[in-house]
Amino acid sequence: TDARIVVVGSCMIDLSCFAERIPKPGETIIGDSFNIGHGGKGANQAVAASKLGANVTFIARLGDDYFGKEYLKSFEDVKIDTKFIKLIEGQPSGVAQITVSKCGENQIVIIPGANNFLKKEDVSAASDIIKSAKVVVCQLETDVDLVTESAKILKQTSENGLLILNAAPAKSDLPDEVLKCCDILCVNETEATAILNEELITVADAEKAVSKLIKKGCKAVIVTLGSQGAVYGDQKSAGTIHAPSQKVDAVDTTGAGDSFIGALAFYLANKPELPMLEILKRSCAIAAISVQKKGTQASFPFKNELDPKFFK
Ligand code: RIB
Ligand code: NA
Repeated sequence: TDARIVVVGSCMIDLSCFAERIPKPGETIIGDSFNIGHGGKGANQAVAASKLGANVTFIARLGDDYFGKEYLKSFEDVKIDTKFIKLIEGQPSGVAQITVSKCGENQIVIIPGANNFLKKEDVSAASDIIKSAKVVVCQLETDVDLVTESAKILKQTSENGLLILNAAPAKSDLPDEVLKCCDILCVNETEATAILNEELITVADAEKAVSKLIKKGCKAVIVTLGSQGAVYGDQKSAGTIHAPSQKVDAVDTTGAGDSFIGALAFYLANKPELPMLEILKRSCAIAAISVQKKGTQASFPFKNELDPKFFK
């Protein structure tokens, strides 16, 4: 299809340790296995959408190290447009140190490295492609400025491109201006808690959080709840909708949120006629597939691995 998705964001080399449980502070435990993979929220979302068949341009920065060169090639393998990905001389590629427990939970530390060199000007340099996009996706592992710049560029055209902000990792001091500039804010329980300063456990809590975020000025909000699915609400309609998810045996939930966002972007760009509830259900189902395999990008399904009903 022609509908373009532009993802602005991070690339990380994921160094994942799989162990019985996540260690306590000061504790050493013996784990089961180790894996090096391609991650970073921006890259994961770009790859998730591309594997579903979307036309994706990714704007990002890598280090000029072995990892950066090899990572760049892998984007070409999944047919992502890499015109706006550059390797930064003398900088290391971003890394993520990840621990995954037996029940699939994770804990992550990221060192952004070259990702810190993605600047507002780099987004402006891609303004033509951003203006032609149906959907633009940003996250918060790169400068928050990139979000407002993307919004500014989208406003210069009448093409009605949608800006999705996945406000991850959690940030408690996100300016209201940022919340207001995106078309859809997408957060998980932790990220919603950081913004609203209150805990979310149940679907009812998520419904309240969606309403509060709309009152703060968000045009539309999605709160994802892991195995409990996702809740959506927007300024135009009263109330919220809840898309349930299926319970599955999770082996690695790392990147499940990115799989969801990539699918969401795919549907909003290519199947905008579908009701939001259906888009959310399908995106949750795709994320549920990803948690049943280890790793992030490697666990996201290709179009031809999915039931054709996902593309009707
Ligand atoms: O959302 C999952 C991602 O977060 C991982 O791939 C890791 O790189 C961190 O950025
Ligand atoms: Na996975």
